[in-house]
Amino acid sequence: SERIQIVPSVLPCDFGALGSDLERLEDAGVDKIQFDVMDGHFVPNLTFGADVIKSSRKYSSLPFEAHLMIEAPENTLERYVDAGCDLVIVHAEATTHLHRTLNQIRGLGAKSAVALNPATPLCDIEYVLTSCDMVLIMTVNPGFGGQAYIAEMEPKIARLKEMLESLKLDIPIEVDGGISPKTVEGAARAGATHLVSGSSIFSSPLGLKAAVAELRELAE
Ligand code: DX5
Repeated sequence: SERIQIVPSVLPCDFGALGSDLERLEDAGVDKIQFDVMDGHFVPNLTFGADVIKSSRKYSSLPFEAHLMIEAPENTLERYVDAGCDLVIVHAEATTHLHRTLNQIRGLGAKSAVALNPATPLCDIEYVLTSCDMVLIMTVNPGFGGQAYIAEMEPKIARLKEMLESLKLDIPIEVDGGISPKTVEGAARAGATHLVSGSSIFSSPLGLKAAVAELRELAE
């Protein structure tokens, strides 16, 4: 029942002119924006923090989600909500008290989501699904854009869909990593409805708007 949403990752954007890229993305018809926050510890890359999201807020009216690929996200949740994020994603592998962290996000007035790296089993989030407004299944090992889609995640997506249906939880499954016209159908067929794409839509010969429309069409 969740509708398909195309979610650009800002990773391929020109960080020296992020505002104009955000305006281009809104014109291209995307549904929300994902900010890939990386601390160089949880993942081997360092991008930006809440201040960059805060300064980006005025350039877009779309929902913002912060994908916190950082250690101990519980220490800085408030900064991301104050920066204007509508939804905050934490990694199950990065916080000791995941149930508390997810409910802290909701307590701050934002929607909560948990992300799983490819190796992390679904049983790790079995008891926190009712504390989530979305679940993100990584289809690459996080840290960089342009990596190959891990198709072995499709059974994991399908199983998660069954778990959510049995709990009568009507929350979206988001996938992130290697999503392109070649891989989007497999992810959508497995049950993903929110599709994060970075390199594919930004490098498409069709141009941004047509690339977004193509992904949406293939997923529906
Ligand atoms: C984790 C990042 C990337 C990015 C999408 O490494 O979060 O997954 O969002 O990158 P592409 O679409 O280029 O795989």
